[in-house]
Amino acid sequence: MDTKELAELMKSRRSIRSWLDKPVSEDALLRAIELATWAPNGGNQQNWMFYVVLDRGVIHAIADAVQARADYVAALPEASLIGENLARMLKRSDFFRSAPSIVAVASSVYKSPLDLIASALKKPDAKIQQMSEWRSIANTRIQSVASAIAYLLLVLHQMGLGAVWMTGPMQAKGEIEKLLKVPADMDLAAIIPVGYPAENPAPRERKPVKDVTRIIT
Ligand SMILES: Cc1cc2nc3c(=O)[nH]c(=O)nc-3n(C[C@H](O)[C@H](O)[C@H](O)COP(=O)(O)O)c2cc1C
Repeated sequence: MDTKELAELMKSRRSIRSWLDKPVSEDALLRAIELATWAPNGGNQQNWMFYVVLDRGVIHAIADAVQARADYVAALPEASLIGENLARMLKRSDFFRSAPSIVAVASSVYKSPLDLIASALKKPDAKIQQMSEWRSIANTRIQSVASAIAYLLLVLHQMGLGAVWMTGPMQAKGEIEKLLKVPADMDLAAIIPVGYPAENPAPRERKPVKDVTRIIT
C-alpha cells in the first residue's frame, strides 16, 4: 500500500450511525480486534479488554440504559439551555440500538514507574505530586485505549464495516459494565457499534494542517 492508498483509506472513513439489518461475523470482529491490538500503548501493558456483543438482547438493554440516563438529563429544567439540536441528540441517545454488534472497550489501571515509586512513598513531596498530576492529565491508560480504537475503526472501515466511537454512553457506565460483566478492576472507556453501513455520510472537513501545527525551529 502506498501513501496515497493509505490517505484514501483514512480520509474515506466516516462515523456510521445507521446500519443494515445484516449480522456481522464474530470472526470478522476478532480479526479487526487482533489488528487493533498492534496499536502503540503505554509500556506495552496492553491493559485493555474488548467485549464483542452479538446478542441483540444485550444491545437493546445497553440502549435502554443509555436512553434512560439521557432522559433523566433531558428532564432537568436546565436542559432547555443546550439548544434544539443537542436536545434532539439527547432524545436519540439510543440510536445504536439497531446496530447488529457492539465492541465495548475497557481498560485496567496503568502503572508508570513514577506511579509505583510514588505509591511506595509515605509522603510524596510537592515535586512528586506535581509530576503525578502532569502524568495523570496526559492519562496513559485512556491514550492507550484510544490508540487501539483508532486502529480498530480504520480496520473495520477497510473491511467494509461502519462504526462509531462513542463515549456518550459512558453516562450509563455502571449499567453497561453490569450487562457485560466487566470485572471491578476494569473500567469501560467507550462502546463502538459496528455493522454494514446504511448511510454514506458526506465528508466532514478537517482544519487546515497549518492551523493545527506549530513548527518549533
Ligand atoms: C473520544 C470520542 C468520543 C465520541 N463519542 C461519540 C458519541 O458519544 N456519539 C456519537 O455519535 N459520536 C461520537 N464520536 C464520533 C465523533 O462525533 C466523530 O468522530 C467526529 O464528529 C468526526 O466525524 P468522523 O468520525 O465521521 O470523521 C466520538 C468520537 C471520539 C473520538
